Amino acid sequence: MKPQDVNQIKESVRKHYAGLIKTDESCCSSLTDCCPDTNTDSPAEKNGYTEAQISSIPTDAAEHSFGCGNPLEYTDVQEGDVVVDLGSGAGIDVLLASRLVGEGGRAIGIDMTPEMIEKAQRNAEEVGAKNVDFRLGEIESMPVEGESVDWIISNCVICLSPDKNKVFEEAYRVLKPGGKLVVSDMVTNNLPDWVRATVSTWVSCISGALPEDQYLDSIRHAGFEDVKVLSKSAYAKMGQVEVASIKVEAVKPHEMTVESC
Ligand SMILES: C[S@@+](CC[C@H](N)C(=O)[O-])C[C@H]1O[C@@H](n2cnc3c(N)ncnc32)[C@H](O)[C@@H]1O
Repeated sequence: MKPQDVNQIKESVRKHYAGLIKTDESCCSSLTDCCPDTNTDSPAEKNGYTEAQISSIPTDAAEHSFGCGNPLEYTDVQEGDVVVDLGSGAGIDVLLASRLVGEGGRAIGIDMTPEMIEKAQRNAEEVGAKNVDFRLGEIESMPVEGESVDWIISNCVICLSPDKNKVFEEAYRVLKPGGKLVVSDMVTNNLPDWVRATVSTWVSCISGALPEDQYLDSIRHAGFEDVKVLSKSAYAKMGQVEVASIKVEAVKPHEMTVESC
């Protein structure tokens, strides 16, 4: 992809999400079949968050759930852990993680859209969360120290990146050995080239979504091991084109130390 295309995609994604948060739209009012079609549920319910989780965070954070799953459902985050959420939006997963890691841990959100960072910070202030940190930045060059993180989570964001290899390499860099990546994301099959080249469907998590095997290869290529699909559910089917949401887990291996004989 040419650098100007990368910049155009990022600018469009940033503008799109800044617009959504400013006009107070929720996920389902704009994305192409973003949520399963049970139209009575709130965005967070549709994305699989429990009532207990939803009632533990500000309504604003739950209403601005733009994800395609609930990545924390597949983690075993412990008190004292450090969790980084890639593309943290209005803060839903960071705020939930902050409760799990407690005072001795930290939940960090990275997002490249200033309006999202501001919204997330206001939501954190509303619940008095002291162990959270929202950082403006890009997930292809994370503002996070190397080998400092126990968990990387992400919810419907990596599909928006024009350089997924770089995102997974960065995730690998910041994780401690033994740390885990657990992401919810979109994958597609048989997407025509003209759709891949359309920015309006890119911002809706469609055009940038890779086929599943390419997505998993990109994670392995960064060095991760035990790459597993934990669940997969169909999102939309248009003729031959299939769009699905998947939850994926991968582990950064411990370095092998070789004793000299
Ligand atoms: C579909 S929303 C998901 C937000 C959040 N994870 C949630 O579940 O509500 C995508 C978010 O990722 C951010 N984003 C997209 N591409 C990014 C990138 N390359 N670097 C950092 N943030 C990015 C957008 O600004 C937006 O807030």
